[in-house]
Amino acid sequence: PSTAALKGRRVIVTSGPTHEPIDPVRYIGNRSSGKQGHAIAAAAREAGAEVTLVSGPVALADPWGVTTIHVETAREMQQAVEQALPADIFVGAAAVADWRVVEAAPEKIKKGAKNPPSLALVENPDILAAIGRRKRDRPALVAGFAAETDRLIEHAEAKRLSKGCDIIVANHVGAGANVFGGDRNEVTLISAAGRESWPNLTKTEVAARLVAAFAKKLSEARQ
Ligand code: C5P
Repeated sequence: PSTAALKGRRVIVTSGPTHEPIDPVRYIGNRSSGKQGHAIAAAAREAGAEVTLVSGPVALADPWGVTTIHVETAREMQQAVEQALPADIFVGAAAVADWRVVEAAPEKIKKGAKNPPSLALVENPDILAAIGRRKRDRPALVAGFAAETDRLIEHAEAKRLSKGCDIIVANHVGAGANVFGGDRNEVTLISAAGRESWPNLTKTEVAARLVAAFAKKLSEARQ
């Protein structure tokens, strides 16, 4: 993308997993390195945007020039996203845990008791859907990811509609795709205008192309 494609635009990106505490030392979490989300934040910054990255626990450095907010849980992530509004573009790239433990234990749960503990779970807020369906301050462009192992396009399109997104980036995560933690990604972009499949690329290349696609959509929407 041109270095000024997103000049003057505000972009919010979520990245990484969330960790939902079971007790002070254990958690429920998803597999996510944060590499794709962080690369998108960096690419948006390179394209001239003012970027806020809301990151769950990852082993990556904060991208240069990006305001990075570190959170642990889905509810903290949602709060940080809402505080960062308004924005022109929202990209939900985080692997948010679908459930959290109703009440995390204040002390480490000891093993060796007669029965292993059972966990009572409650659903986490869907951050992407909440942004997509906002009446006030809805970003002009809302993009989410769909990591699917089967019937990728069909599930991704259903997700786009149910979450009120403009774009879903569908990625192949089935056996052998090696997306989690890897440096490459193979995606199909799905919007109301149709779909577009890209070859297997590095996550940095996918990020640059996504940012270019977002900038184009945004300028079309403004005309
Ligand atoms: O429903 P599913 O988790 O497959 O949808 C994935 C998309 O939704 C991703 O863009 C992810 O960041 C977002 N998401 C979210 N909050 C959740 C669950 C998913 O923002 N609680």
